[in-house]
Amino acid sequence: MLIGKKPNILPSEITPRDIYLGRREVLAGIGAAGIGTIMSRPAAAAKLTSVKSPLSTTETATPLKDVSTYNNYYEFGTDKSDPAQAAGNFKPTPWSVEIGGMVAKPGTLTLEDIMKPVTLEERIYRMRCVEGWSMVIPWNGFALAELLKRVEPLGSAKFVAFETVVRPAEMPGQRGSFQPLPWPYREGLRLDEAMHPLTILATGLYGETLPNQNGAPLRLVVPWKYGFKGIKSIVRITLVDKMPETSWQLQNKNEYGFYSNVNPDVDHPRWSQATERRIGEGGLLAKRRPTLKFNGYADQVASLYAGMDLKASY
Ligand code: MTE
Repeated sequence: MLIGKKPNILPSEITPRDIYLGRREVLAGIGAAGIGTIMSRPAAAAKLTSVKSPLSTTETATPLKDVSTYNNYYEFGTDKSDPAQAAGNFKPTPWSVEIGGMVAKPGTLTLEDIMKPVTLEERIYRMRCVEGWSMVIPWNGFALAELLKRVEPLGSAKFVAFETVVRPAEMPGQRGSFQPLPWPYREGLRLDEAMHPLTILATGLYGETLPNQNGAPLRLVVPWKYGFKGIKSIVRITLVDKMPETSWQLQNKNEYGFYSNVNPDVDHPRWSQATERRIGEGGLLAKRRPTLKFNGYADQVASLYAGMDLKASY
């Protein structure tokens, strides 16, 4: 989304390639070679038990290798390969999230508190990045509504604001003179969007805990919006009565709006949004596919925007 600049990565922060490249292939390779004791997967990765959701797409999932090495996570650098290489020192445990603002029961919940009552589901979603590429990702997560209901939003609450952790010591993109975005990374949803059953908080993908580069330990996933709404490594959730500021709007409000619904009819000021390249499908020469309104989720979500001018509210 921006001009790339190398982050300030210390040699000790560079993750070995075999660790960030598809943990399964590494393990399979080890099994075949019979060296059962070598463990190349990150200590944090653990198997998750999830129930299959009827809200999943049946489209072919993008390979784990692509999902975990072609990322946007500017706290670790602006190149697609930076997050996988530079996020190895990030510590997603222990973790807690402060939930407050216009709620009857504000508080700070540990990740374990958050997870205890929820049913983890596998949600295979189409994901569309504003840059013009897409993936199909098997997330493991739960409805954000489950968490919001627990803190009891007040009648005055109209929006939900989210913030990512700020940790320059572990996030090389937050150090040095070049800062691509104002930190903390901020995002927001209207309360009805946040309560929609398709909106999830993800704690895993491909049946294992989230890799750091994908937003461990907890990130937002809103499949009918451009990928940048999917804020990673969330530490604060605040219910408010006014539309919150978002990092991308602060960075360039003419290019990035609050709603950011996937819409092939509304071009980005600098490029068309009519088509997309599916990552993992035949490289740069592969035929682009048409982008669908609300990323193909119109039946479920178009009613949220009834009567709105989606060109003005982009
Ligand atoms: N969250 C934080 N904190 N920082 C970021 O730079 N990038 C966003 C979003 N969430 C970003 C973020 C963008 S632009 C996209 S496309 C998605 O994360 C990418 O998610 P993925 O790397 O898991 O595919």
